[in-house]
Amino acid sequence: MKYSANLTALNTADAVLVAIFEDSELSETAKKFDTQGEITALLKCGEISGKIGESTLLRQGTQRILLVGAGKPGEITVRQFKQIVQKAFQVIKTTASKNMVNALTDVQIKDRDLYWNVRFAIETFEAERYVFDEFKSQKADQLKLENIVFPIDNAETQRAIQHANAVALGIKLARDVANCPPNICNPKYLAEQAKTLEKRTALVKTTVLGEKEMAELGMHAYLGVSQGSKNEAQISIMEYCNHPNPDAKPIVLVGKGLTFDAGGISLKPAAEMDEMKYDMCGAASVYGVMNALAELQLPLNVIGVLAGCENLPDGNAYRPGDILTTMNGLTVEVLNTDAEGRLVLCDTLTYVERFEPECVIDIATLTGACVVALGQHNSGLVSTDDALADTLFQASQQTQDKAWRLPLSEEYQEQLKSPFADLANIGGRWGGAITAGAFLSNFTKKYPWAHLDIAGTAWLQGANKGATGRPVSLLTQFLINQC
Ligand code: BES
Ligand code: MN
Ligand code: ZN
Repeated sequence: MKYSANLTALNTADAVLVAIFEDSELSETAKKFDTQGEITALLKCGEISGKIGESTLLRQGTQRILLVGAGKPGEITVRQFKQIVQKAFQVIKTTASKNMVNALTDVQIKDRDLYWNVRFAIETFEAERYVFDEFKSQKADQLKLENIVFPIDNAETQRAIQHANAVALGIKLARDVANCPPNICNPKYLAEQAKTLEKRTALVKTTVLGEKEMAELGMHAYLGVSQGSKNEAQISIMEYCNHPNPDAKPIVLVGKGLTFDAGGISLKPAAEMDEMKYDMCGAASVYGVMNALAELQLPLNVIGVLAGCENLPDGNAYRPGDILTTMNGLTVEVLNTDAEGRLVLCDTLTYVERFEPECVIDIATLTGACVVALGQHNSGLVSTDDALADTLFQASQQTQDKAWRLPLSEEYQEQLKSPFADLANIGGRWGGAITAGAFLSNFTKKYPWAHLDIAGTAWLQGANKGATGRPVSLLTQFLINQC
């Protein structure tokens, strides 16, 4: 889909998306198309009244005018705005329209400016038109719509279009790798995706570490998880260098990349186990963000790390009771082989010390407990650095890719005591999302650190089953805000 800004398109486009406010109030664009009183007539006969969720299609000469209910002006929330855009898209895609003007720029979203109106519209159109049919014999119908034009051309809309295009690309790519089945998307596949970034931009160098390199580095927690799988663990390191000062400290993003998590010897129940192909959504989001960054060419140094691995039961798998020595020297007693994400991440978090990071953010489908705590709308945010946590929270509010901070105080470390090793890999029944974060914090002392637990937000279940691409929007915004 091509997005642009141009006022004159209003007269030439074959479709125009127009807001009607509650109590039958015409938006500015609706007034322009009401010269003969045809829209007023529709309102009079009750065809549409302006409530959110309503829509009606009207023909004027060669143009389709899609009227959508837009609620009370100035009062609608971002969520409601997205619902309006979704509704409009569902209607317009059933028509033969190729070029549409989106005059929902007339809609004032509560506490938001034109930039966010345009950005949310594009992100929503792109999310709605997403299909993953690579493995279907019968492909989805080709969308006829090719161009969406915003009828206001200024620096604000141009910037919003540029940012939204980059974020939408990142989200799409994250969704694609995440939805890919685990017999194809294995750690090697993740590394191959990481390498494709070099083709997109000369600003990125990608290196891949295999198990041999990991053994030399002493990453025995990571390797312990991987030893039950025939697929080799691989860590991909994508270094994006575009800061005016090439020696500027990098922002490091680390993504959990369990391409399948069966739980290992502490095997998961069969129901919904297929969803554990999504245990690499942290890595998928980092990959998406790096692509968005390459698109935006932000003046930053950013390193994206995909921690690829597979957790399976096997004759050679690691066991409950095993004691593993991590890369930073701490020993860990494995009490549950299903708490593998923290074992893979702890060594990766030690590994990235060598980049002397400005800050490190890890993104992981780490705990079911996080979903119990926050549900499926907010990602969990755990951090040892208030300033970093605040900046991430702010980006989450801006993008509405929501995150909520959980406390991380020293008491939680008590739950991770082991009689035999420096740490246990689980912290008991209570506060599981926090004790997982507390575990990781033992490996992040050399830099400001934050952790996003996306177990509840990375994919949807049920009728709309599939990866969401979260938190690509949040993280890309975080990077935009650094500039
Ligand atoms: N990948 C899972 C977490 C998960 C579970 C994400 C369900 C989304 C939905 C993780 O590796 C895991 O298994 N965590 C365990 C930890 C427990 C053994 C302390 C969990 O949450 O049950
Ligand atoms: Mn697990
Ligand atoms: Zn896992």
